[in-house]
Amino acid sequence: MKISVIGAGYVGLVTGSCFADLGNDVICVDNDASKIKKLKSGKIPIYEPGLEELIKLNVKEGRLSFSSDIKNSVSRSEVIFICVGTPPKNNGEADLTFIEGVSRDIALSMSSYKLIVEKSTVPVNTGEWVERTIKVHNPRNVKFDVASNPEFLREGSAIKDFMNPDRVIIGVKSKKAKDILIELYRPLKSEIIITDIKSAELIKHAANSFLAMKISFINSISNVCDRLGADVNEVSRGIGLDRRIGKDFLNAGIGFGGFCFPKDLGAFIRISEKCGYDFGILKEVQRVNDMQKSVLVKKVEEMIWNLQDKTVGVLGLSFKPDTDDIRAIGIISILVKEGARIRAYDPAAMVKAKGVLGARVKFCKDAYDVAKNCDCIIVATEWNEFKELDLKKMKKLMRQPVIIDGRNIYDPETVKLLGFKYSGMGRR
Ligand code: UGA
Repeated sequence: MKISVIGAGYVGLVTGSCFADLGNDVICVDNDASKIKKLKSGKIPIYEPGLEELIKLNVKEGRLSFSSDIKNSVSRSEVIFICVGTPPKNNGEADLTFIEGVSRDIALSMSSYKLIVEKSTVPVNTGEWVERTIKVHNPRNVKFDVASNPEFLREGSAIKDFMNPDRVIIGVKSKKAKDILIELYRPLKSEIIITDIKSAELIKHAANSFLAMKISFINSISNVCDRLGADVNEVSRGIGLDRRIGKDFLNAGIGFGGFCFPKDLGAFIRISEKCGYDFGILKEVQRVNDMQKSVLVKKVEEMIWNLQDKTVGVLGLSFKPDTDDIRAIGIISILVKEGARIRAYDPAAMVKAKGVLGARVKFCKDAYDVAKNCDCIIVATEWNEFKELDLKKMKKLMRQPVIIDGRNIYDPETVKLLGFKYSGMGRR
């Protein structure tokens, strides 16, 4: 099929390159001409395992190209995926300016039937607005359909998630739109749920909110475990094996980070408020998550007392492994405010973190470099290389042998036997 993917960000690039890999003819479009120039010269603006290789292969084989000319790209395609950003406004609501702009541009470029598919996470009813916008700006009255096909891609495993989805959600009004999308997704051999557009839109917000709720739930359990001396990992295993609960997304830690969960939770709370429902549970999910950073900082203080002029090492700056998206920044800001000196290292996110944190942090070449003269080490991201550290060597380099394991990657007994003072999240 001939496809245009509008928005060459994280979702757009993954979607575009995967559809190309499935044998379609794909143009990734972005109005940022410098980004398109870079992509054309083989430079990929984000770090996502496997993406660079996939893009290069499909460009080489002539199935994938890049353009900043939306008009030309739309007129050459039958299916158009909207993958532009929906950033949060100050009140949590999603800002849909880019979606409206793209809908207008598509309408003005249409000369034959188009299927316009929302891929970006959008509030329920956006499909209606996209349809109305296209109708208003579609002078030749060209036939079109709008569909919702939310993405469930995780940063760090996005290509795998795209190619092996748990399910594909297709929200449509017409049979033609349904048939095109079923055909497009047929090679994935995944379960396909066909529904109305509003339900499809809602499924995305409901899924992310439920997952965020699982994390805040287990973090609350971890806070109780801390007070009672129980081990949250054991509790998590014990409840997760109940199939009604499920074992995924029950790792306690310093809370969920990244862009999607915080943004989608805020947006869904606003959507519910606007339709007259106070979604109290989700507000509590947010509160628990915000609090979890302070729980970690309190643990540091319990181990090394005042933070003024102490040196704290932070292992991991990304919000999870296999991404360069930064998350530990919130924690670092609290530590800096308390007067601590910070040494930090991340396998992938150093460049981005330097841009945001600059002079306040000493960026180190590896975890051992971080450990030098530290009063405490915090594990903020569960990168594999931190799981395999030579802790004896780390201990020799530190001023005080203290580890606060914000991701519960170490076995408390082993670490304590090496002579460390140790605290995990919900386990000691
Ligand atoms: C999330 C969803 O998992 C995707 O399905 C969805 O498509 C995406 O948002 C989106 O809306 O675009 P992502 O934000 O990339 O994906 O990251 P996750 O792997 O879901 O992790 C989110 C955060 O939760 C991370 O900070 C992670 O460390 C944390 N987490 C996750 C926990 O603290 N505990 C867990 O058990 C699991």
